[in-house]
Amino acid sequence: MRLFISLVASIFFFMILSKLEAQDIPSSNHGPLVPAVIVFGDSIMDPGNNNDIKTVIKCNFPPYGLNFTGAKPTGRFCNGKIPTDFIASKLGIKEYLPAYVDTNLSPEDLITGVSFASGGSGYDPLTSKVASVISLPQQLVLFKEYREKVRAIAGDERAATIFAESLYVVCVGSDDVANTYFPTPLRKTMYDIPSYANLLVGYASDFVQELIQLGAQKIGVVGIPPIGCVPSQRTLSGGILRGCATPQNQLATLFNSRFDVELQRVKAKYPGRLLVLADIYGILYDIIQRPNTYGFEVSSRGCCGTGKLEVAILCNSVTASVCPDVSKYVFWDSYHPTEKTYKILVDYLYEKYIHLLI
Ligand SMILES: *[C@@H]1O[C@H](CO)[C@@H](O)[C@H](O)[C@H]1NC(C)=O
Repeated sequence: MRLFISLVASIFFFMILSKLEAQDIPSSNHGPLVPAVIVFGDSIMDPGNNNDIKTVIKCNFPPYGLNFTGAKPTGRFCNGKIPTDFIASKLGIKEYLPAYVDTNLSPEDLITGVSFASGGSGYDPLTSKVASVISLPQQLVLFKEYREKVRAIAGDERAATIFAESLYVVCVGSDDVANTYFPTPLRKTMYDIPSYANLLVGYASDFVQELIQLGAQKIGVVGIPPIGCVPSQRTLSGGILRGCATPQNQLATLFNSRFDVELQRVKAKYPGRLLVLADIYGILYDIIQRPNTYGFEVSSRGCCGTGKLEVAILCNSVTASVCPDVSKYVFWDSYHPTEKTYKILVDYLYEKYIHLLI
């Protein structure tokens, strides 16, 4: 009898306990892994910051957004979601990471993070200048303005926690290679490939350190992809067979390996900060070389138009048709991956690098 009573008592106690847990734990157990994600970069991470600025590097018209909710062209350089969206949703924050310049953002949207990325930006200030888009230093100015808004919404104390615990992501460099160094004489006459890689590493390192000085503790820098293998670079520099453009890839790999070393130096200078180079070169190269392994059929052409050159204003529904089945394509236009490719890349980045930051 006594045993029975104590058994009933412990079951009862256990039930109360699990009820308490069910009520109290979720906010910490199932909530977002970081309070916000804050992104700087180029078209890979741009959810529409270029929509209202005077530049040809924009895409807020069909067929962009073909597979976005409501087939809406938001300014994302893709048929659907871009990496920032996948990162924000994997972290349990929200389904889409909005563009900072969007004037309809709710207070909740602001405090859970935005993207300042602007298609056409680079580490090299010349890259953003030639494209007339929002340069990295200008993205930092917007970030400072954003911080004031978050303080006004959340209060100083909570804002400080948000800024310290947020995940910061930086993704630029492709356009320095593809738009500035190779096609123009602006840098080539003074810098060979290794010295231009060093120049980019210097700018990248300065940017990361500025973020640290502004309070960032967790920073992921996405490396430069095998930009010589994207369809437009094959067309422009890959010869008659449209192979991967080797010098472009050399510059990308040189930047990645040297920046990795530099990041170790920065880490030593700022102990306690979590800094990671998220290298996407190898995985994207593999997807391009062996598309079938990943469920694709075409990797040397994009889905938009001929797939060999059309990007941004050249990929529009007036002059360019869309491929019959986008799910077979690694690239959406001649420069940017499809949503399906981005999903694979972010899943990989998350497992390999992003989880180290949270
Ligand atoms: C993308 O949208 C088109 C047009 O609505 C549709 O035919 C296609 O199945 C969609 N593809 C994917 C991968 O969602």
